[in-house]
This record gives sequence, structure tokens and C-alpha cells, in this order.
Amino acid sequence: MVTMPELSIEPMLATDVRDVLRIERASFTTQWPADAFYTELTTNKVAHYYVGRLGDEVVAYGGIWVILEDSHVTTVAVDPARRGQRLGERMMAHLIAEATQRGAAWITLEVRESNVIAQRLYRKYGFTTVTVRKGYYTDNDENALVMWAGNLRGALYQHRFSAQRAMLA
Ligand SMILES: CC(C)(COP(=O)(O)OP(=O)(O)OC[C@H]1O[C@@H](n2cnc3c(N)ncnc32)[C@H](O)[C@@H]1OP(=O)(O)O)[C@@H](O)C(=O)NCCC(=O)NCCS
Repeated sequence: MVTMPELSIEPMLATDVRDVLRIERASFTTQWPADAFYTELTTNKVAHYYVGRLGDEVVAYGGIWVILEDSHVTTVAVDPARRGQRLGERMMAHLIAEATQRGAAWITLEVRESNVIAQRLYRKYGFTTVTVRKGYYTDNDENALVMWAGNLRGALYQHRFSAQRAMLA
């Protein structure tokens, strides 16, 4: 049996931002500056950010906005050295569970058309492509797929989500 590392997921603190930026730089061609994370943590009332730790080391992070029944995954990333160990999936499942607990019924995100790894993860959690935003990413004019999942509170989604979380446990 393959044992998966125990990821502890907690709210992101300002003191985590330095570690988050290290993963951010290794993960995205267009990166959020430190100020963007600090603003999200301190002034955006609809924002909820989390870090995943293995021991003391921050290895993953993710964020959502929840506005009434709608939620939006703003970012999710795993340290490149730790990928392929279900850590991104655990973070994603956590974001969806938090969004649901905070009252969301629907969840959306944008993903680069070329990012097939992330798309596969999202599809696993019920996301489907609803629209394409042409040239959304200004660094290379790449299209964004706009994906949605829901109804998060419906019996169908809950059943499937519980089964997937049980597999992760
Ligand atoms: C996307 C990302 C968070 C996935 O994290 P991860 O910990 O490596 O992924 P996991 O091990 O949890 O895998 C979960 C699912 O993701 C998909 N996936 C992960 N690695 C994959 C790979 N190499 N090839 C294809 N699909 C893959 C699969 O669907 C997988 O589930 P499955 O194996 O049962 O099909 C990670 O690759 C990452 O940080 N990428 C850079 C940042 C990024 O692109 N973020 C998304 C922005 S929209």
C-alpha cells in the first residue's frame, strides 16, 4: 500500500507569504506580488486562503472568494518537488468544502488552455468548461477556460464529493 504524506491545511497567515511566494515563483509564469497576498489576507472580506504543511514546511496553498451562493478559486499550487502526491487534490477538496460550508452552491475558476494537469484535477471534482475567454492571459495571449462546478449542496455532488474525500483519507 502506498502511504500518502499527512498534509495539514490551515488558514494562511501573513508570516506564510514568504514561503507561498517561493512556490508561486516556481509555479506560474505571471506571479502575484507579495502585496496581492497581503491585501487578500487583510482587507478582502470575501477571501479565504489556506496553506498545506508537511511538518513545518509550506508545500501547497490555495484561495477562494465566497460571495453569497457563488465562489471562485483564485489560486492553487503545490511545490514542484511535492507534486503527484495528492497534495493538490487535498487542497482543492479543502477549498470546495470551505466554499460549501460558507454557503456557496457554485464554484468557478479560470485555467490556461494549456494547463491540462490542472484541468484534469478540476474535472475530477466536477468542473466543466462553460466558456472560453480569448487571450485572457496577457503574457502570451493564451485563452482561459472558465470552469464551473455545482450544485455543491445538492445530493448528487455531495455524494460524489464524499466518496472522493474518503478515497483521499
Ligand atoms: C495543478 C496542481 C495543483 C496539482 O497538484 P498535485 O499535487 O501535483 O496533483 P495531485 O497529485 O493531487 O493529483 C490530483 C489530480 O490532478 C491531475 N494530475 C496531477 N498530476 C498530473 C499529471 N502529471 N498528468 C495528468 N494529470 C495530473 C490528475 O487528475 C490527478 O488525479 P488522478 O491521478 O486520480 O487522475 C500542481 O500541478 C501545480 O501546482 N501546478 C502549478 C500551478 C497551477 O497550474 N495551478 C492551477 C492554476 S489554474
